[in-house]
Parts: sequence; C-alpha cells; structure tokens
Amino acid sequence: MGSLDLKRIVTDAQRAFANAADTVTLENEKARFLGKAGALTKLLKSLSKQLEPEIRKSEGALINAAKQKVKIALNARRQAFADALMNQRLEEEAVDVTLPGRCSGIGSLHPVMQTWERIEQIFNSMGFDVVDGPEIETDWYNFTALNSPENHPARSMQDTFYLDVKDEQGKALLLRTHTSPMQVRYARMKNPPIKSIFPGRAYRVDSSSTHSPMFNQVEGLWIDKNISFADLKGVYTDFLKNFFGRNDILVRFRPSYFPFTEPSAEIDIRFEYGRNARRWLEISGAGQVHPNVLRNMGLDLKRYIGFAFGSGLDRLAMLLYGVDDLRTFFDGDLRFLRQFI
Ligand code: DAH
Repeated sequence: MGSLDLKRIVTDAQRAFANAADTVTLENEKARFLGKAGALTKLLKSLSKQLEPEIRKSEGALINAAKQKVKIALNARRQAFADALMNQRLEEEAVDVTLPGRCSGIGSLHPVMQTWERIEQIFNSMGFDVVDGPEIETDWYNFTALNSPENHPARSMQDTFYLDVKDEQGKALLLRTHTSPMQVRYARMKNPPIKSIFPGRAYRVDSSSTHSPMFNQVEGLWIDKNISFADLKGVYTDFLKNFFGRNDILVRFRPSYFPFTEPSAEIDIRFEYGRNARRWLEISGAGQVHPNVLRNMGLDLKRYIGFAFGSGLDRLAMLLYGVDDLRTFFDGDLRFLRQFI
C-alpha cells in the first residue's frame, strides 16, 4: 500500500460525499469508506502482524490521518445538509413581523343577555332581588301548586317536554313551561316580605316568528302585608319607562285570566310615537296571587297579600332592538348578532 492509494481513497471519498444528493446517499457512501467493510477499515485490518513494529506504527498513522480527512469531509457534508434543511425551514416558517397582529376576539353579550342584565339592574334599583331556579321541574310546582287544574291545556303532552325520569309522586319531570313555579319554590324557602324577580329559560312545544321552543321569561313576585294592585301597577310602569328609556309609554292593565292569579291582568304597552304607535302590544301577565297558591306557599292568607307578573324576556328584547323574528336571536348567525355589540 502506498501513500498514493491513500490519497486516492481520500479524494474518492471527498468526491463521493460532495456528490451525495441527500443524507441517505451520504450515509451509504460513508459506509463505503469508514464502515466495517469500508476501504480504510480494510486497510487498517490488513496491516500485517508480521510487519516491523516501527513500520506498522507509521503505516497505521498514515491510514488514521487519511481516515481523519475522510471524517472531516463527511462531517462537512453532513453540516451542509443540516444547514440547508434549517434554511429551508426558516424560509417556510418565516414570520413577517410587520404584518398586523391577529387579536383574539373579545366577544360580547348576546342581545337577549343584555336585555336580561338590563331588567335585573332596573328591578334591583327598585328593591327586587334576583333569584335563579331549576329548568327541570316537577308537575306539582309547574302546574298543581299554581292552581292549574288537571285538565288544563298547558299540561298536555304536546305542549310540554317531559323527561323519562319520575318524581316522588310518580309523575314525569318536565322542562318548566314558565318561570311561575319559582313563585312557590321561593316563597316556601323565604319568609315574607318577598320582593324578587326570577329570570330564566322556559320551554314549550312551539315554533314560529314569535315563539321558540326555548324562550326566556322574567317572573316577579311581591309579597307583603299592606300592598295593593296599585303598587304592582306603579312598579311595573316604572320598570317599562326605565327599560325603554322613555316617559311617553302608555301602559294598560287589561282584565284577563290565569289560574294562579285572581284578579288577573294582561299588561299592554303603546308608545306615543314610532313604529309601534298604532297598536297595543301585550308584554306581560300579572295579577294578585290566588289564595290557593298562597296556601301552597305555606302563607297565612289573613296576613299576606301577593302580586305577581310574568313577562316575555325575549319579547322585551325584540321591542327594545326592533327585531321582528324571535328565532333570529337563537340562530347563532354572527352577522345578526354583531349588530348588538
Ligand atoms: N306564567 C304565565 C305564562 O307563562 C305568565 C304569568 C301570568 C305570570 C300572570 C304571572 C302572572 O306571574 O301573574 O303565560
């Protein structure tokens, strides 16, 4: 073996590495020179034990020096591949820091929730507290306790969503059809005076431009010793003036019927001016709490008198924002909802 052979091996390796188009080829080429059966390894192994130790030593040193050169060429090429990969990545994943930032959307309250909060604030300012209640109700609280007879149409399976779960009386639980059950629930928990509102969701098998299977109501209950229908009328009229932010609202209490109030009224409103000027709009039911309901509340009829109202919260939102199809509130279409930010 001469130093010429070694030189050739080194230049062969350098050329092979330089020509390797990818890392796999490069590693294969490496095996050809430095692997177990590689040219240089073979040379090292072939150093005969019979050689003079001095010569063996110097030959070995030469081969190792050549091996070192090959390794340097290999590593240089490896580094070149790594650099190329890194540059490619940097190019692909480049961030243009001059582009405007992508902000995370803050979002805003749904118009119905804005209405809900507005109602809470106004009643709060008039001394009413706000109480939350269950949407899954028993037959007793939803109907019986509210003096609704067994054959009341609202009890029919078509009007209400029933659950497969039964209560202690063996009656199916249901999604409350109104927020009125909260009157009895709350009055059984808290001693009078009671001055509360109960906003919340209610459900009915109903769908049209003014009815949705899920809708929101706000119930009001006022129980004390010396109050009258005039108090209810004053409070509710004040609420409406605050809610719509105008004093020229006409409010009418029209005689009506509800099983849980006697006497009962329907509350209608009319604006002096504007698009709703022509007709009265029904906005709420109301009345003096029926003696049977007061009894179910566990109250002494001789000491206490109660007034209640139940208003369509979505209906109030429709009027406040001039929306004429209730369902648009619940479609979740951002183009519609963004108008109320
Ligand atoms: N719960 C009735 C409904 O959903 C509304 C109502 C009427 C509530 C009169 C009341 C009331 O508290 O006094 O149609």
